[in-house]
Order: sequence, then structure tokens, then C-alpha cells
Amino acid sequence: MSDPTIESLLQENRHFPPPSDFAQQARIASFAQYQELCQEAVTDPEGFWGRLARTELHWFSPWEQVLQWDPPQAKWFVGGKLNLSYNCLDRHLETSCRTKPALIWEGEPGDTRTLTYEELHQRVCQMANALQELGVKKGDRVGIYMPMIPEAVMAMLACARIGAPHTVVFGGFSAEALKDRLNDAGARVVITADGGWRKDAIVPLKSQVDLALQADQVPSVAHVLVVRRTGEAIRMQEERDVWWHEIQQRVSDDCAAEEMDSEDLLFILYTSGTTGKPKGVVHTTAGYNLYTHITTQWIFDLREDDIYWCTADVGWITGHSYLVYGPLSNGATVFMYEGAPRPSAPGCFWDLIEKHKITIFYTAPTAIRAFIKMGDHLPQARDLSSLRLLGTVGEPINPEAWIWYHRVIGGERCPIVDTWWQTETGGIMISALPGAISTKPGSASLPFPGIQADVVDAQGLPVADHQGGYLVVRQPWPGMMRTVYNDPERFRRSYWEHLQTGDGHPLYFAGDGAHRDAEGYFWIMGRVDDVISVAGHRLGTMEIESALVSHPAVAEAAVVGRPDALKGEVIIAYVVLDNQHQPQENLQKELMQHVVQEIGALARPAEIRWTETLPKTRSGKIMRRLLRTLAAGEEIAGDTSTLEDRTVLDRLREGA
Ligand code: WT7
Repeated sequence: MSDPTIESLLQENRHFPPPSDFAQQARIASFAQYQELCQEAVTDPEGFWGRLARTELHWFSPWEQVLQWDPPQAKWFVGGKLNLSYNCLDRHLETSCRTKPALIWEGEPGDTRTLTYEELHQRVCQMANALQELGVKKGDRVGIYMPMIPEAVMAMLACARIGAPHTVVFGGFSAEALKDRLNDAGARVVITADGGWRKDAIVPLKSQVDLALQADQVPSVAHVLVVRRTGEAIRMQEERDVWWHEIQQRVSDDCAAEEMDSEDLLFILYTSGTTGKPKGVVHTTAGYNLYTHITTQWIFDLREDDIYWCTADVGWITGHSYLVYGPLSNGATVFMYEGAPRPSAPGCFWDLIEKHKITIFYTAPTAIRAFIKMGDHLPQARDLSSLRLLGTVGEPINPEAWIWYHRVIGGERCPIVDTWWQTETGGIMISALPGAISTKPGSASLPFPGIQADVVDAQGLPVADHQGGYLVVRQPWPGMMRTVYNDPERFRRSYWEHLQTGDGHPLYFAGDGAHRDAEGYFWIMGRVDDVISVAGHRLGTMEIESALVSHPAVAEAAVVGRPDALKGEVIIAYVVLDNQHQPQENLQKELMQHVVQEIGALARPAEIRWTETLPKTRSGKIMRRLLRTLAAGEEIAGDTSTLEDRTVLDRLREGA
């Protein structure tokens, strides 16, 4: 508990009631209304979710049963038929949405595009037809490796339209990481672009795809569909590679949405876990559609005329749920930006808010901390009065950053929703409803109606208020992940068997530590496992360790996170070289580059520390807790009696 952010969180007691003018017009307009919804969901969960599914979504045919729960296997809306792309597009064509912008986009060089619901529908149909022409059938997996351009959204919706599960791989991942994910998913087609703009440079996506696919390393891939974005010269491999703008000329802009079963696989999204390679988190159609739809509507308080901006990349779950599916299912106008703040345009986010009259803005604490550092003069030089609601996601937000966000960006008038959730949960689980729930800086506040979140000890028993424990969920919810792709055993092991629950009641284990205050507010303390979060990007220490060990000079490696004021955590790697190699500065650089090549720039260690041995228990387990303490520059307290060799610590201290 020596972490200063945790200390300040424990002392935090400011609270901000919903502004009354905001509450008056809000979707969920009072705490009493929130409580009623919670009550309805507790007394009759199936009635609650069934009512929402009926009123909020379009169905080709109704379900027979709302929930089949055979822990940890859940089936929602059993037997129902629907299509997510239909719910995001077609149904809006019969309303005033038809001519409303679905997507307003701006590229980093300043080019802009606006697509109405009608236009987006046509493009999605064309891309769906293009995929079919390339041989993609219902059930075939499609890889998407794209910059933040409208075609990324079209690609996802086109896949959903024809029932081809997509797996979006973040454009910052390396060719090596892309290859692993495409292979695990068995992708048949990859959709990519020649490149994209990010921080004044071109990210060469197509050449990374070429590297990933070279020498038949991904045998399942038959075609690559390439969108022209930057116009850079790229290599097109005959027969395999097809330009989107060429195929677009000849395909129809009409394509019926496939009738999908509620539980048909919608997408796979890879995320880091405690052990081994990334997990393919599986989400299915109906539950995910409903859960992202209703959380977007209530938490972001969507109204007809909102212009909603979520800064997340489509390569992450936030991009899936709250840039694409949730907002479009609600018929909202989504703003999408290709780039990121950069030295040549440090105030670009505020320019964009002013220019496009953004009303709802959803970003990450790490971005907010970077904005604070860039200076108040940048947002203060812009008119941000269009904003009415702010959101944050990805890691705990320190109260200082929260207050700054509230004051400087929100003009002290916008509520802030701090939303806790995960790739696995599909949608937001704990958050304020901005017209109903008072917020406290640093707390994600209360569970969404129907979510039975709790804090328990290692035996699965509830802990007292203010006492730390494991964050768990007691009941299934529609947006929950269904399995780990190709590895149902890992699903069970990673999420459902962590805690010894005496009464045998299944608990979903989130991997986060948390505590609750006397008013039931949740305070998330960060991961309790070997997952670290660098600038809000989730990375497994084991993944980075195996990348290091795959370098010929490395005998052994241990990776830990060190608290960082800007990024939340940075990566510190302790490396044992084999006896052929000597510690050298060059080698440090080479190893950092090696990790970038194996995983991507997001996994680059901030520091590599040489060591002759790693602290281990007698059974050979690396004691990362000790390394974490050392990396943070703190003295080791607590029990070290399980350490196999006590002199290791002194040597590590000297080394640092
Ligand atoms: C982990 C999930 C869900 C979208 C982005 C990350 C941390 C997420 C919060 C929050 C404190 C948070 C947790 C969680 N996290 N939101 N509001 N407050 N921590 O998705 O990559 O699946 O990571 O992010 O540690 O377990 P993800």
C-alpha cells in the first residue's frame, strides 16, 4: 500500500452529484430509477434482459429461452435469429436516421469524410459482397489489420453481415504477433490497407501483412483485401492480393444480412493473460449486441443529436464495443479520428472537439495525463462548450487527473463516467449512470443494472467495506465472453476456478483487486495477476519474457511493471545472459528491438537490467513481487523466507 495513487484513493471523499439540468433530460434520470432497474434485474433477470432484447433489438425470429446457464457456459436468447450489422444499419434506414451521419471521420493529414447511415450501409454491403467473391462463407474467420479509417468499420460490419467472425489485430502489433493471431484464428482472408497515418508517419501495414504471410506461414489465408489509404508503393502479390477500390467497382451495393443464431460466433479478440500466448476471447451475436447497445445508451446517455467520440483504436475491445457496435446499434453519430496527438499538433483533440462539435468524449487516463503535461493553454484556447459528457476507461484514474478532466475539459459542467470493464466482459460492468449516480474521483462507482459485482477473499467470501479483495461477478450477463477460442479448458481455468468457493457457487474472476466503500462504490486497485498495463495496453509478463528468451543471447528473463506517472506502468526486464554473451549497452538496445519485433512497439521495455540470477522460490517460481519492489526503487519488506538463495537480492540491488 505504499503506492501514492492507492494512498490518495483511500483518502478520496469528494463527490459530484449529477448536474440537475443534465439529470432532467437523462435516459436514466434519478438514483431511484437506477435502483428500480437493479431491483427488476435481481428479482427477474430473465424478464429484465428479455424485455430489453425485445424492445431494443430487431429479431428475424424470437428466442425460446432467455438464458441457459451451465457454468461456466452461458447461452443467451437461445434459438433467436438476428444480425448485428442489420441492427447497426438496416433498421435505421426506415427512420429519420437514414440521412443522418453515421460516421464523421478525420484523417491525420486533415482530410475528412462523412457517411450517412444510408451510405455506410451501401459500403458495408459492397464489402460483404467483396468478401463473398473472395470465397468467404458463413463461419469463416477474417483477419482485420487496419488503420483508423472508415473502411475498418465497414470491414467489421461486413463480416458481421455475412456471419464471418472477425479478428481485429491492432495495427501497432508486429508481423510476428499478427501471424500468431491469424494462425490461431485460422483466418481465410485478411483485410488491410497500404498504410495509415499516425504521429506524422506512415504505418506500413501491408508490408507487415506480407511478412506475416511469407513462406506460407499462415496457410489458411487465401486472399488479402487491400484498401488504398496513403498511396505509397506496395507490393501486390498476384492471385492473393486484391485492391478494395477495384473489386468495389464490380460488386453490388446490396447484400442481405445473414440470419445468425443468437449464439453464433461474432468475433475473436486476442488479449494477454497470465500465462503463455494471448487468449482468443470469443463473443457471440445476440448477448453482445444487446449488452453493448444498452450500456452505450444508458451510460453515455445517447440522444438523437449527439456527436460521440471514442478515441480507442478498433484493435481493442473499446473500439469494438463503443466506437462501432454500441453507438451504431443505437443510431448515433460517431466521430472517428485516424491519428493521435503529436508534437506537430499537440492540441489536435481540442481542435477536433471544437470543429466537429463533439458532445460526448470517451478516452483513457493515460491520455488525460499526457494532456495535463502538454498544458492547459491548449484546451483553453478552444471552445469546448459542445461537450456534455466525459468518459474514461482502461486503468484506474488518479483523482488529480479526474479533477483536471472535470475542470479544464468538462468546464465543471460535464459528468464523468469512469467505466470499468474488460475484453472478456464485452461491455461496461461498473460505471456511473451520469444522470442518476453521483461520481467520486477515482471510483468507477456502481455496477450496471443486472451486474452482480462483488469483492471477495481467496475463499470466495465477501470482504468487509474498505477491505481489499478480488473483484468478481456472481451472475452471468449477456455480454460475457463465451470461451477462449480453441481452448475451453483455459477459459474455465483462467476465469472460473481461481477462488475456492465453499458453497460451489460459480464466480467470474476478473483478475483485478478492488475494495468497496460504505456506499457500495467500487475502487479498482489494478491487476492481481502477472498482467501489466502500459498506457492502458494490456500485456502479459510471460509473453514479453518468452519474446526475450527467444533471443539467442538470453538464458532467462523476468518482466515486471514499474509505476509510471504518465503511462500507469512501464516494463522493466531482468535478463540473465547465457555464458557466451557479456552485458553491453548495444545488446540492451538489440533486446528492446527484438521485443518490438516479436510483439510490437507497445511492449518495448523501458529498461533492461542485467542480472546473474533471478530470485526464485525453492520450487523454481520467479518471485516477481520482489522484482516489482526493486524496480519501483523500494525496500523489500515482508516475507522472503521462501527465497531459494537469499544473496540474490543483494546482488540485484547492487546491479541496479
Ligand atoms: C483491464 C482490462 C475495457 C476496455 C479497456 C481495457 C483495467 C479497465 C478500468 C477502470 C480501473 C480499469 C482493469 C481490467 N481497467 N477499465 N475504469 N478502472 N481499471 O480492456 O485490455 O481487456 O483490460 O483494464 O485492470 O481488468 P482490457
